[in-house]
Amino acid sequence: MTTPGFVTMDSVVVGRSARMRAVFEFLRVIGNSDSTVLVIGESGTGKEVTATLIHQASRRKHHPFVAVSCALFSETLIESELFGHERGAFTGAIKDRLGRFELAEGGTLFLDDIDDVPLSMQVKLLRVLQNRTIERLGGTRTVSVNVRIIAGSKKDLKQMVADGKFREDLYYRLNVLPVALPPLRERREDIPMLTDHFIERYFRRRGEDVPPISEAVRQAFLRYNWPGNVRELENACERIAQTCTCGTVRIGCMSASILLRAGGPPPELSAFTPAPAAQPQEAASVSLDDRIRDLEANLIGWALKVSNGNKSRAAELLQIKRSTLGDRINRCGLGRAAVIGAPDATASPMAATT
Ligand SMILES: Nc1ncnc2c1ncn2[C@@H]1O[C@H](COP(=O)(O)OP(=O)(O)O)[C@@H](O)[C@H]1O
Ligand SMILES: [Mg+2]
Repeated sequence: MTTPGFVTMDSVVVGRSARMRAVFEFLRVIGNSDSTVLVIGESGTGKEVTATLIHQASRRKHHPFVAVSCALFSETLIESELFGHERGAFTGAIKDRLGRFELAEGGTLFLDDIDDVPLSMQVKLLRVLQNRTIERLGGTRTVSVNVRIIAGSKKDLKQMVADGKFREDLYYRLNVLPVALPPLRERREDIPMLTDHFIERYFRRRGEDVPPISEAVRQAFLRYNWPGNVRELENACERIAQTCTCGTVRIGCMSASILLRAGGPPPELSAFTPAPAAQPQEAASVSLDDRIRDLEANLIGWALKVSNGNKSRAAELLQIKRSTLGDRINRCGLGRAAVIGAPDATASPMAATT
């Protein structure tokens, strides 16, 4: 079976939503072009992995791919980081150092967080893009560079231009081939596939069998808003792989903060019926105990959510005693999830004992 998405030798970007399919199509179209690309998307939407794909699909693929986040450096440091410096250029410059432009020679330079580059530095970048030459800090020579530029931005640069925060000329230099990566909440169809992809990756990495994912977990993942986008989903799956030892990824294996924020209406039994596609062709056995545990955990999670973590109110909603609720929380692993869910767990309603 081929994975829908865009795959090169070293990277894989999966997605089946119409919006991601349009992105993959665009990547195919720009294939061997050497023009500058501007990748726009919120943090965690896959800007860097997209840049690596573009590089690996280009004729520069046997040369370096160098990524640098412009947000990580102060105004003075970024210049030496990008252009390098010669010995004695400033206090602490004890030897010559190549900048990222020269390190990427022949290949691709991914300038992430270009929206964080201060105006003074934007002028210098513009000059490099126009002349394809750099000058090392404290140096006197002009060095030619043969580098394909891909810029990443989490903000709408056009708006920044309108606000006077980004140079218009630099914007046009960068925005030759624009690629927009939608936030995950606007392409929820991709969530199941990404979940499978990451669960498989992280269980395999631990040398463990890949467990099935319960329907309750899938529903919660679909409802959750993923403000940190694909990166957050990947981290959630990695955490599950580190802690889940029960043979099935259940609600109790999820981070409490995601579970609680996933909210949603009281889960119905229908949510626990496997989707036809997911049903095995043969030997379609179903563990009644597992299903009941999932249902119980999901209902408890829902009650805690709507009662804001107040266990007495949650118990009322579920028409059980407060002490029984405590036992059930422990039994289905929700208590453990709250602990695993640190650091958010302390701030989350579930961690509060009421
Ligand atoms: N569509 C996707 N398919 C597979 N992995 C993805 C996808 N989008 C993002 N990732 C993974 O999510 C993480 C964050 O992506 P990254 O490219 O660093 O995002 P950004 O640069 O936009 O913050 C990386 O580990 C990346 O490999
Ligand atoms: Mg990034």
